Amino acid sequence: MTKYKVGYLIGSLATGSINRKLARALTLLAPESLSFTEIVFKDLPLYSYDYDPDFPPVARKFKDAIKAADAVLFVTPEYNRSIPGGLKNAIDWASRPYGTNSFTHKPSAVIGASPGAIGTAVAQQSLRSVLSFCNSPQMNAPEAYIHFTPGLITDAGEVTVESTEQFLRQYMVEFHAFIARVLSVLPPEA
Ligand code: FNR
Repeated sequence: MTKYKVGYLIGSLATGSINRKLARALTLLAPESLSFTEIVFKDLPLYSYDYDPDFPPVARKFKDAIKAADAVLFVTPEYNRSIPGGLKNAIDWASRPYGTNSFTHKPSAVIGASPGAIGTAVAQQSLRSVLSFCNSPQMNAPEAYIHFTPGLITDAGEVTVESTEQFLRQYMVEFHAFIARVLSVLPPEA
């Protein structure tokens, strides 16, 4: 299988984030043909187009990290029926300056966990809308709304429920296949 580099963004900045546990599980369950790097955004200032003529180093590094990835994976909580502000701010940085949108033709997938039964479904719809505008080809299926019950995933990323483990494993198999399909027609720019 062709190897791909996946950059992943965790929507939560919380130290005990259940979405960080989910991200860890996904990296452990994924096919070996996928490698993973977290794309960190917590140090980005709040975006304004005043920065466009001269992006600060932290923002350049952030955009470079997305460029270096063959695909991006968003693992995000739902905050007030949308994505957390920090993640939206990061996407806004990545999308600018005009003409340098980091997500153009970059394959992506969205997943999230919540203690509530709808498992971030509304936030994911919101994020999908943003990524559509950013011209990122998105994996449509499988969708993944993870209802995070206590102990479902350990801090080390071990999934304690067999059916969930199988589902997440298959999700990453599908993501690999999706990346391959997209990059076969939209090769990354040099
Ligand atoms: C939440 N939470 C939440 N849950 C949900 O299912 N839908 C929602 O709209 C919200 N809104 C919301 C807003 C804010 C500001 C907070 C802090 C929390 C609960 C949320 O799912 C829960 O705190 C998760 O643990 C968040 O994921 P992380 O940060 O632990 O990964």
